[in-house]
Amino acid sequence: MKHSMTGSAGDRQAAHVVLGVHFGHDANAAILIDGRIVADVAEERFTRCKHSHDVPFNAVEYCLAAAGIGIDAVDEIALGGLRQNHGLRALFGIAHPGPNDPQAALPPLVTPSYHRRFFPARTPRVTFVEHHLAHAATAYFTVRESGRVLIATVDGTGDGASTCLWRGENGRIEPLVKLDENASLGWFYSNVTEAIGLWHGDGEGTTMGLAPYGDPSRCRGALDGHYPVFSRGALETPAAFKGRYTHLALKSAYHWHSEEAMKLTPLVERYGKPDIAAEAQRILEEQVMEFVLPWLEREGTRTLATAGGVFLNVKLNQRLWMSGCIDRHHPYPNPGDSSLGLGAALWAAADQGVAIEPIRDLYHGPAYGNDEIEALLKARSLPYRRSDDIAGDVAEYLAEDRVVAWLEGRMESGPRALGHRSILVSPGRAEHKDIVNSKVKFREAFRPFCPSILSEAKDELLMKPRDERYMITSFDCAPSWRDRLPAVVHVDGTLRPQTVEREIEPLYWRLIDEFRKRTGLPAVLNTSLNIKGEPMICHPREAIRCFYDSGIDVLAMGDLILTK
Ligand SMILES: [Fe+2]
Repeated sequence: MKHSMTGSAGDRQAAHVVLGVHFGHDANAAILIDGRIVADVAEERFTRCKHSHDVPFNAVEYCLAAAGIGIDAVDEIALGGLRQNHGLRALFGIAHPGPNDPQAALPPLVTPSYHRRFFPARTPRVTFVEHHLAHAATAYFTVRESGRVLIATVDGTGDGASTCLWRGENGRIEPLVKLDENASLGWFYSNVTEAIGLWHGDGEGTTMGLAPYGDPSRCRGALDGHYPVFSRGALETPAAFKGRYTHLALKSAYHWHSEEAMKLTPLVERYGKPDIAAEAQRILEEQVMEFVLPWLEREGTRTLATAGGVFLNVKLNQRLWMSGCIDRHHPYPNPGDSSLGLGAALWAAADQGVAIEPIRDLYHGPAYGNDEIEALLKARSLPYRRSDDIAGDVAEYLAEDRVVAWLEGRMESGPRALGHRSILVSPGRAEHKDIVNSKVKFREAFRPFCPSILSEAKDELLMKPRDERYMITSFDCAPSWRDRLPAVVHVDGTLRPQTVEREIEPLYWRLIDEFRKRTGLPAVLNTSLNIKGEPMICHPREAIRCFYDSGIDVLAMGDLILTK
């Protein structure tokens, strides 16, 4: 089924439209037109519940609006996972038993009448894409690589698998290795996270941030027997994780719980959180390396692409990059389950022979214009001023050590703020880290912050530098810069940068460059615009609320500026 899309009557062409949806935690939707990502957003950004597993009505509504089409213009619905038929029934009204059990009873129709707005008049093609294949698709199809690529997908679990390798070549993805939940390094790391007292499925980044404060040699071996062991590219000793998980649904988000975490709790009490975190980080890095690296040689490639929640771990990504085995490294920047709808759509489009356009940025969410923002401010009788040089004005505030909230253009997909929904402050003073943690984000004092740096400065600031647009890999900071950027260099001398290229991000590049002219620092501290426990802010209304409910000094949205 092909549909006429945009263009003049003379050159009107059939467009191929795929709507990708993932039902589950971090529910999301994405839309692809002729192989180009038009929109990609997680439901949490609208419901304001982090990791929301709600049926993604809002995400689908936004994707269709961004594409300027209705549901009947969709050629194919691609689902990120094999057990998605209940969601398919609820959101689209489509009765499908699902691929796992064709004999199973069809899911009942439970959707209230007012939520049936995406029921298509005619059922489009429906494709179920296995969880890890959808992950692999995000890693492979979003980059342009002509040669062979080794793709690693590692997470907690999805469709019964946790740890997979794939060969990407000639626009196709072929499976190499698929391991079940007893190989799950994701669950191991999450078990430790739960034992430390953090949310399994959310707090893993905090465990990683805590690790450099510990010393793994003080508890070396303490976690033995609690993780799967790999040797030369294969699983040597499985863990016993399968079927030993439960979860509690709170505020529309899953809080996972494992029996294993209970066994680890006494070890945390004995050795302390930092040392256990450090040992868990050491194990994660070493085991992933032991699994993945031998396959690069076996596959005869030095190009690695990765996805799955484990590859949110920027220190692991750094370790892989520094291994000496990789020339080209593509950690997909939104590697968790909040990109499964996109991954399913990418795979489905490629499978139909559609050429996929690689990404150049991650700005696939909603944008709001000056008029809309101004109307919001007027309705609330809030004082503001219009700037004719927003980048220069904000750079001036940053040079004066003010904390600025910056909402410009389309929202980022994925968990990292990349200069569209950011809180910014000068990286030149160590106390800024404490100020943002305590008065703005309301989170733990040890949590590190990351810089956005001018691409032109990367060779000076980073060891073994490369452009890294997405804050998905950490780098060692050049020794001469460690003292000059104290708010963004972590205790272990690393930083996790976003390199900002002028041609990709002209406004944000100019902001940092204006800050450099005033201070000599080619970087700003950039953290996501939200407070602890919230998803990243999407709408200006939420930014206003966050501004007045935190220690942020300045709010810049579009060309408009609010101050306290
Ligand atoms: Fe996953």
